Amino acid sequence: MLQEIEFTTKNILNKTNNFNPQFGIILGTGLGGLVNEIKAHYTIPYSEIPNFPVSTVRGHGGKLIFGELGGKKVIAMQGRFHYYEGYTMQQITFPVRVMKALGVKTLIVSNASGGMNPSYEVGEIMIINDHINLFPTNPLIGPNDEQFGPRFVDMSEPYKKEYITLAKAIAAEHGIKVSEGVYAGLTGPCFETPAEYRYLWRIGADVVGMSTVPEVIVAKHSNMNCFGISIVTDLGVEGKVFNVSHDEVLEVAKRQEPKMSKLVKEFVNKVIL
Ligand code: HPA
Repeated sequence: MLQEIEFTTKNILNKTNNFNPQFGIILGTGLGGLVNEIKAHYTIPYSEIPNFPVSTVRGHGGKLIFGELGGKKVIAMQGRFHYYEGYTMQQITFPVRVMKALGVKTLIVSNASGGMNPSYEVGEIMIINDHINLFPTNPLIGPNDEQFGPRFVDMSEPYKKEYITLAKAIAAEHGIKVSEGVYAGLTGPCFETPAEYRYLWRIGADVVGMSTVPEVIVAKHSNMNCFGISIVTDLGVEGKVFNVSHDEVLEVAKRQEPKMSKLVKEFVNKVIL
């Protein structure tokens, strides 16, 4: 894997005149609009990046964008990879390894989720303060290369507390309503049954989705700090579990995109690394 990362990183550095971003952003569902805020210097489609998988999901483009946001240098992934697409955990998280090699210190992730917390509404913006890994595996399984990080990774602060405090202050300043909670990550691609939503709420999750956890695990292994944000696009609350469709998820996420973009842009501008 080391050779693959080095090869890909060199290839990217060649194509971007040695651009060295401090922030890595994974634009999940709901944050796609943030690309319009990035002053892009270079854009590379995944298909032109050696060793990169190609995203197969509608609503997820497939490009790496290098540019400026909130006055800082960022690399943004437009389109991420999901376990349910059939990729391995190592493939899904490969871009995070490359980000680290390019100099990224802070990873920002976004996603759409189903909300189990009964106080949540459709469209709720939730700052992720912790997660539960319900994938049947972990991206760090296999031999550990100490050059990347330790065998046993500390996960006591998966989402940096300072970042959460800052994001909440920014949200308050701009009149954006946010809550804070726990994200359960599982494979999908089925949405959950009512019994599964009930189970997830009981074990301590506020929302559920099909991404983010693998990337954050690898970011922590790589000694990066993480900030995560989720848009609740449907509810898994007893009595409120209705038919969920991908179109609906995209629509709700799109509606909240301006707020999400504002929040992340201000966050990048104000955060001290
Ligand atoms: N479950 C899992 N993933 C999701 C959901 C959900 O209800 N909504 C958006 N992504």
